[in-house]
Amino acid sequence: MDQDQPYLDATLPIAARVGDLLRRMTLPEKVGQMMQLDSREDLDDHVLRKHVGSILHTSPERVLRAHDLTSRTRLRIPLLIAEDCIHGHSFHEGATIFPTQLAMAATWDPALVERVARVTAVEAATTGVHWTFSPVLCIARDLRWGRVDETFGEDPVLIGELAAAMVRGYQGDGLTDSTAILATAKHFAGYSETQGGRDASEADLSRRKLRSWFLPPFEKVAREGCATFMLGYQTTDGVPITVNSWLLDEVLRGEWGYQGTLITDWDNVGRMVWEQKVQPDYAHAAAAAVKAGNDMIMTTPQFFEGALQAVEAGLLAESDLDRAVTRILTLKFELGLFENPRRPDTERQRTMINHADHAALNLDVARRSLVLLRNDGVLPVRKGRIALVGPLADDAQTQLGDWAGSSGQADWLPDGQPRDMITTVLDGLKEFSEVTYARGADILTLEADPEGETFPDGQPRPKIVAPCPPNQELIAEAVAAARDADHVVAVVGDRIELVGEGRSTATLDLIGGQIALLDALAETGKPLIVVLLASKPLVLPDSARNAAALIWAANPGMQGGRAIAELIHGLIEPSGRLPISFAAHAGQQPTYYNQIRGQHGSRYADLTQEPAFAFGEGLSFTTVEYGDLHVVTPVLGPDETVEASITVRNTGTRPARETVQVYVSDAVTSVSWADKELKAFRQVDVAPGESVTVRLEVPVSACSIVDALGNRVVEPGDFVLLAGPSSKDSALRRAEFTVKSPC
Ligand code: NOJ
Repeated sequence: MDQDQPYLDATLPIAARVGDLLRRMTLPEKVGQMMQLDSREDLDDHVLRKHVGSILHTSPERVLRAHDLTSRTRLRIPLLIAEDCIHGHSFHEGATIFPTQLAMAATWDPALVERVARVTAVEAATTGVHWTFSPVLCIARDLRWGRVDETFGEDPVLIGELAAAMVRGYQGDGLTDSTAILATAKHFAGYSETQGGRDASEADLSRRKLRSWFLPPFEKVAREGCATFMLGYQTTDGVPITVNSWLLDEVLRGEWGYQGTLITDWDNVGRMVWEQKVQPDYAHAAAAAVKAGNDMIMTTPQFFEGALQAVEAGLLAESDLDRAVTRILTLKFELGLFENPRRPDTERQRTMINHADHAALNLDVARRSLVLLRNDGVLPVRKGRIALVGPLADDAQTQLGDWAGSSGQADWLPDGQPRDMITTVLDGLKEFSEVTYARGADILTLEADPEGETFPDGQPRPKIVAPCPPNQELIAEAVAAARDADHVVAVVGDRIELVGEGRSTATLDLIGGQIALLDALAETGKPLIVVLLASKPLVLPDSARNAAALIWAANPGMQGGRAIAELIHGLIEPSGRLPISFAAHAGQQPTYYNQIRGQHGSRYADLTQEPAFAFGEGLSFTTVEYGDLHVVTPVLGPDETVEASITVRNTGTRPARETVQVYVSDAVTSVSWADKELKAFRQVDVAPGESVTVRLEVPVSACSIVDALGNRVVEPGDFVLLAGPSSKDSALRRAEFTVKSPC
């Protein structure tokens, strides 16, 4: 206990400690406390001169250095150490790297996703990380967007369930739990609704559209205690989200009563000056950001001078900063950092990072993330020689996807995660069969961007992708291998250069020599099994769509190759379901299932609007039949719950893990609305020859729409409940129910 410095007295209430510390802080210390800077830059300057409250992108060495520097500061306020631990502790060498968020979404299993987040938190906490910028709650609708892989797909209910699970996993038993890390719901809100898929362009979203689909997942995690929210890059209605007082004050803080901490995205404050050009200088930008309620300003070094100038010029009062600083300090006290700054713990790292249980969980998630989209009976492969071809069959780092190892955000792992921790498809298949491997095609080369190596803020500009032409020699080698084999497994897809921030794609095609390779393989007449190792749904050529089998393995993580090999050989049952639709043509964008009804006709003159594969689709090795759908309570009041049941029968010879999806269609709505929306889902295991009766529940309160005034309401009248194995109408059983008007 320290009587001279009550803020160090752990027996005092947090509010008293914060109040005491705040009174001691100078204006520059307060400004600095609101800042999060990149630890790869001048760490001494960040900590000693700018008094930063937080750092990110911190290698193991720099975390230690940052703590040492903090001990030399006047008040020794502990730093919040932040990192993008997105699907595992992404940039820590040897950490468990799980399938990407989109791949995890294909499991449709919140409990599994919660375990992934828990393990990530346990591993990250040992390295001194307190805060992860995960999960992503953006709705992926335009497949050209470069960050589709970071999302949970296209449906708000699925996103909400999985995101809430992830938040629970990260935050564990609460912030005092030494294995808990702060979760971040991002990117609030509507960032994914880009124009033409172009990253961080203006998101043209009405408030009603936001309330209808984009906000509900955020509302769920806000109400369930997600500690922090990150604000998107984009402008909406001309206003950068960073200063959107309707969204921040009225909705988030007001309607939802959110008490957590808000952090901007990367240089959002600076972008208002140099990119969006809606603020004349950094003083005005800093003042606007503080007044709008931002607590932590990510990577805008100019915020320091800007905020000081703003106070001097009377644009900002020192008390305006106090609100944000109070919130940040409160978080630090809640984490107990003043007593224990949670430094890296090498002994725990040794025992916990890549623990055998974590690797086992990783394999399980990888298995569950695989989606079997087509199978003419070729799978499972029981015997014979395999020709394994394709540029991604043995590309270990690509298999991990974005936000992992060498994906570009961190500079201390230039060679990526350790190769011996990653099982590629080649490694996996070799365990079970005789394999001949031929690359068959190259995908791309990189060229310098003529606009320069960096953006105006000094950040590196991604290089430009040049697709490789088909290479006849490589194709001939692959075809020869195919002719000699009993089965061909072709692993094709995308690479990191086509994925991520600022890397949206105009095409959704398999680029480089991949289509020519698949076409040539198809012509051999050998049973062709296509493994699409693609970060996001791509548009597939006929040779892939009509292949004997087609498996989507969005980046499946370190154990992905083994999981794929097991699936091919039938050692596991395929159970993944699409969390996002596959387009048949890039020009069909967007292809999400819950589009607004009403248009002239239902197709293009030259193409249908049907996706190649719809939301919710996925095959098992067995056949499953759905019986009739029975609604127990066909007439209900607004506070009741629709109860229904459906019988699922496994008519094949292999076990099924069936994801029963429940949609609701509102017969007549006061404003146009989606024809059906997912409201619930349940997974059941059904043994061969057995039937399981699945009870389904949908609260009437969930059968809502957003009316013309922006209010979420249940409109009494007739509804249809739909249940089945995917969002396709032809796959769904129907039963009606009626919601009575309140008396
Ligand atoms: C920018 C990205 O948009 C965001 O998702 C990420 O968390 C931050 N950079 C920090 O790396």
